[in-house]
Amino acid sequence: MIITELAQAVNRLRNGLVVAIPTETVYGLAADSSNEIAVKQIFSYKNRPQTNPLILHFHNSEAAFEQARLVPEAAKILATHFWPGPLTLVLPKKTHISDVITAAQDTVALRVPAHPLTRELLLNFPNGLVAPSANKYMQTSTTNATDVAKQFANDDVWILDGGSCSQGLESTIVAFKDNVPVVLRYGAITVQQITEVTKLEVLQNIPMQTVVPGMHKKHYAPKAQLIVTENPVQTLRALADKTVGFIGVNQEAAKLATAAFLYNPLDLQELATNLYRLFHQYDAQNLACIVVEKPENIGLGQTINDRLKRAATSI
Ligand code: TXA
Ligand code: MG
Repeated sequence: MIITELAQAVNRLRNGLVVAIPTETVYGLAADSSNEIAVKQIFSYKNRPQTNPLILHFHNSEAAFEQARLVPEAAKILATHFWPGPLTLVLPKKTHISDVITAAQDTVALRVPAHPLTRELLLNFPNGLVAPSANKYMQTSTTNATDVAKQFANDDVWILDGGSCSQGLESTIVAFKDNVPVVLRYGAITVQQITEVTKLEVLQNIPMQTVVPGMHKKHYAPKAQLIVTENPVQTLRALADKTVGFIGVNQEAAKLATAAFLYNPLDLQELATNLYRLFHQYDAQNLACIVVEKPENIGLGQTINDRLKRAATSI
């Protein structure tokens, strides 16, 4: 059920029930972090293995950092610049945090989201709300209330409607090796932005003790076959006998597709904001293939290419 009243969401969460909430990145499937049964329900609704830890969301940095045994200087700098916003920090956890949330790891993932409705909601939960992305395990994240409702049509999930997510891609996840930021998941905040504010050489692609399942080879996949290409016209000609949804900047390619979304080549945010919505839409139209024209691999393009690579992997 889709709702718009904040008070209804607060009541349900206080009663140990699950509510999907809007954030600026994607919708989250939220539960009161101090209610272990409610937290377990999240894993069950998502079909998510309990070995995959959840992000804890807070109203402000103070409340978030209260959960950590130790906060590196670089983490404080990142929080000052990017919280509230699409950034998740992985820090050594204090012992009061439930092992169900952290999958019994020694660290906890913390985020202060920017969506105004959810910020207000979080004021009512000083111990934080857990919220993984509101989609079934391994499927595409959701960026509007209707797409969430379709994913959880058979579950007791209410959805707090906060409109379409402005960023459209999940938060960037950063851990720390001593004081050095380690990007565990590319996201809405780019590696360049992190380097710029911390003045540190950011680590990427290094094996950490903890596994981030969002980094699985296959993730975020639509049902249609996803093809990423640098030559969209050639690719679409080769798929002439199939129904195809096209996402890109090439107008000639768009004419060859069954459905197409063209974005301004100078505005990768427009692609990011619409990508998951289009995966859900093309799947609802039962298209056989989705062809995405590969964006340049810098800034947000790096995050988008990371997601496309995982979503396009067949196993
Ligand atoms: O933008 C987002 O981050 C959204 C919104 C709703 O906040 N949430 C989200 O949650 O994407 P989820 O659960 O779909 O992805 C979080 C990722 C998972 O891959 C999980 O394994 C990883 O964060 N994670 C959580 N706790 C961790 C920890 N202590 N160490 C390493 N990775 C962790
Ligand atoms: Mg997810």
